Amino acid sequence: MLTIMAQLWKGRFKKELAKETNDFNSSIKFDCRMFEEDIKGSIAHATMLGAAGIIEQSESEKITEGLMEILGDIKSGRLEIDMEAEDIHTFVEGELTARLGQTGKRLHTARSRNDQVALDIRMVLKNEVDEISEKVKNLISVLCSKAEENKHTIMPGYTHLQRAQPITFAHHLMAYASMLCRDLDRLKDVKRRMNVLPLGSGALAGTTYPLDREMVADLLGFDSISANSLDGVSDRDFCIELAAALSLIMVHLSRFSEEIIMWCSWEFKFIELDDAFSTGSSIMPQKKNPDIAELVRGKSGRVFGDLTTLLTVMKGIALAYNKDMQEDKEAIFDAVDTVKMCLNAFTPMIDTMTVLKDNMRNAAAKGFINATDCADYLVGKGLAFRDAYKATGELVALCIDKNLTLETLPLEEYKAVCDLFDEKVYTAINLEKCVNDRLVAGGPAVQSVEMQIESAREYIGNYRF
Ligand code: ARG
Repeated sequence: MLTIMAQLWKGRFKKELAKETNDFNSSIKFDCRMFEEDIKGSIAHATMLGAAGIIEQSESEKITEGLMEILGDIKSGRLEIDMEAEDIHTFVEGELTARLGQTGKRLHTARSRNDQVALDIRMVLKNEVDEISEKVKNLISVLCSKAEENKHTIMPGYTHLQRAQPITFAHHLMAYASMLCRDLDRLKDVKRRMNVLPLGSGALAGTTYPLDREMVADLLGFDSISANSLDGVSDRDFCIELAAALSLIMVHLSRFSEEIIMWCSWEFKFIELDDAFSTGSSIMPQKKNPDIAELVRGKSGRVFGDLTTLLTVMKGIALAYNKDMQEDKEAIFDAVDTVKMCLNAFTPMIDTMTVLKDNMRNAAAKGFINATDCADYLVGKGLAFRDAYKATGELVALCIDKNLTLETLPLEEYKAVCDLFDEKVYTAINLEKCVNDRLVAGGPAVQSVEMQIESAREYIGNYRF
């Protein structure tokens, strides 16, 4: 391949690229995954060149056929991508020329690798966004099903990791579903701005040929064409936006993982992961470790790193294309691959986990998570909330002293603190009632969570990439 490159540059250069320089300069090891998009982009370009009369129609057809063959040969393994090539664009063009001779050399008319690579990354990432969106949708759907099964599963809700107020496991799961719905929304938004065709920007200054850029956009499924050729070749905002959207997905998966890890511990024992999604210890026979969740939490670091890489690569380069930008691909591909891998492992792990409902209920029964409801009961009797709060605080202190709960504290003790209390307080602090009185939209009551499940399902049902 070095020879083909040397031929491409021939006019200006007297020597071939040094081996070390070629290895350093080359991007084929990571851009070879764009071969299909590169070829499809070239087919669209050649088709337009023919239709616009920039090259002969017959040559355009020959180029298309040649490119289709190359695509088929790479896919079937008949043609191996040469890892000595500078990049995938050079390889495909070189192979086409090797097969078609002079005609192959016409493909690059009115095009630069700068607008070509900008096109290829957009095409690759559009597909990746669709794939990731589908995986996020699946996870939301699994969360909705799990929530459906756990609408009545009372658990303590926490703030500061201290038991705070009663919720249900369904309510907790649907919080993650809400985050993931926003993630889907962001992916869609990223794709909208990604869906702009840069081809036709040339190296930086457009071209003198009468290109039909709209035609290429139509052929390749782009919504519009880039407005400025300098920006067309040097814009990588869409990579950064995608890495940011992926980083947020990882923030969400990582927080969820942290909870899974805690819930698996003997200290919580709220869930048990399926054996297929846990690992043992090489020395401690009793261990069942939530490695998958830990790895997802750990891998978030890679994706944040990729985002930082992209921001740093782009922040100081003058217009238009600079070779620095070749660094975009490893970073964004790593982010994409990591998120896909994490979702592939995470979703079935959630789907197959066992919810230990009794343990959640027992934990909810301790920690005075119905104290707010006790205070609200007094408010119902006409007391100001601040006074009710104080009286309940005294009751909690009393319970702690006597090793009792609000449920087991005798009525006389209640009355001694505030004479507004009567028998009905026990109904008021019943956990099921506490949860189901929280009927407010977005709250944990069964009906309220049912609405959350319904709207999440509706959202993913109507979601179009
Ligand atoms: N491999 C290059 C990249 O990924 C392709 C564009 C090369 N353009 C150039 N002017 N050297 O950025």
